[in-house]
Amino acid sequence: MILKNINPTSTKAWSALQEHYNKIKEVKMQEMFKENSNRKSDFTLKFEDFTLDFSKNRIDLKTFDLLINLAKKTGLKEAIEAQFSGEKINITENRAVLHTALRDKSETPIRVDGKNIKIEIKETLEKIKDFSDGIIGGKLKGFTNKPFTDVVNIGIGGSDLGPKMAVEALKFYQNNLRCHFISNVDGDHVFETIKGLNRETTLFVIVSKTFTTQETLTNALTVKKWFLDQATEADIAHNFVAVSTNLKSVEEFGISPNNIFPMWDWVGGRYSLWSAVGLTISLSVGFNNFSAFLEGAFQMDTHFKSASFNKNIPVVLAMLSIWYNNFFKSETEVLLPYSQYLALLPMYLQQTVMESNGKSVDRNGHSVNYQTGNIVWGSTGTNAQHAFMQLVHQGTKLIPADFIGFSEPLYANADHHSKLMANFYGQTEALCKGKSIDEVNNELAQKSSEIKNLSPFKTFEGNKPSNALLIQKLTPNALGKLIALYEHKTFVQGVVWNIYSYDQFGVELGKELAKNHLKK
Ligand code: F6P
Repeated sequence: MILKNINPTSTKAWSALQEHYNKIKEVKMQEMFKENSNRKSDFTLKFEDFTLDFSKNRIDLKTFDLLINLAKKTGLKEAIEAQFSGEKINITENRAVLHTALRDKSETPIRVDGKNIKIEIKETLEKIKDFSDGIIGGKLKGFTNKPFTDVVNIGIGGSDLGPKMAVEALKFYQNNLRCHFISNVDGDHVFETIKGLNRETTLFVIVSKTFTTQETLTNALTVKKWFLDQATEADIAHNFVAVSTNLKSVEEFGISPNNIFPMWDWVGGRYSLWSAVGLTISLSVGFNNFSAFLEGAFQMDTHFKSASFNKNIPVVLAMLSIWYNNFFKSETEVLLPYSQYLALLPMYLQQTVMESNGKSVDRNGHSVNYQTGNIVWGSTGTNAQHAFMQLVHQGTKLIPADFIGFSEPLYANADHHSKLMANFYGQTEALCKGKSIDEVNNELAQKSSEIKNLSPFKTFEGNKPSNALLIQKLTPNALGKLIALYEHKTFVQGVVWNIYSYDQFGVELGKELAKNHLKK
């Protein structure tokens, strides 16, 4: 067994946590802050330009130790080593899981079936570089010899969400190429996207690991037909490229072998933006920025691999998430980036987290008797404050929140930024402290009796957990770190829950049944 097979709930570490939970569950964070004057520094971690303040969680030092102990007792250390070294930890598909190799800047070889995959990774990166430089610089042109103005990425799931999220997140660094994304098999999505585009100056990047995905193939064929209204089959070689493992089907589609960027079965779709699946990112911001993005992820990988669990940001976030999911029985967690650039991050991470850990069968093939994958949702602050945060503050559900903010804005907009970040801190404080009925009554004391009756409605229970992740500045490097951080958090949770995080059989049944409906 490559990964240990341990039912976490049968461990002493779990029982100790359960016992401790029964004691601590009603304790207010405010009391814990009073009791421990070092609480903030005890529960703050720094890694390069990242600072995680997790002091506003319903934990004390003992909880923290017990959570870290659970991570140790469920074979996490061995699992991390197995993943990074290329062991086939994706057992159900008999594959290695090596998205981390795509950003590994070290010289150490990584072997899959005896072959050092670092060589092909390097070659592919060079191909991405040459191609991006050629398109951005105007050396590579469309079929009528005009430089490209637009790029259309056609893909779905991991072949869409990652590039789309990163292109949006790095808009500040974007060059003059306009990037568009077609994912849904909804034809209106396709025609709405291409309606204003010029065939001569548009590059189509078809991204599909399998090149069998119904949505992507349908959309690619529609776009090809539209292109051929004013071009010839031979022109496809200038304006179409593909990223796939399925070279045969790509060639059958009509794309020249020179225009195919490889993918490998040891990269899962939802972890693939670091590969040539990220070609549109490199086209949008240039290869140097793409490379900095990879470098950031590599730095986070190094931290994840080497930091002790109690100082390890992905491990700490994962164990806190388990604390709420499995002990407080929270169903969901909310992600709140205080940057409009990160608007697509919650949607992107929904696939990472929910496709990976939405499993109810353990590594023995038995149904689990505990909760696994949490539901992730969210939106940008401050927009979220004027939408769903009411429920997080005063609703009946316990929803742990991750706040992500930046110390510096990208434009010189100090006034906006101080307001944005004041809200970031204000929200975490309000969630933690709440507002007692006495405080409300004091405030209302001067008002008429009718207004005084409002006090129950104006009371905030508080004691709502949140993490505050403060990053220096939204750079490609920082984005790489951030995405890798959440990838590792997801992995840790899958390890502790004793499930397989790297298959996604759950998406198949609906696809098959849809085919039957098509035949009708
Ligand atoms: O349907 C789920 C899925 O397999 C995802 O895991 C994947 O990211 C997506 O479909 C797209 O797959 P492909 O890149 O093979 O078209």
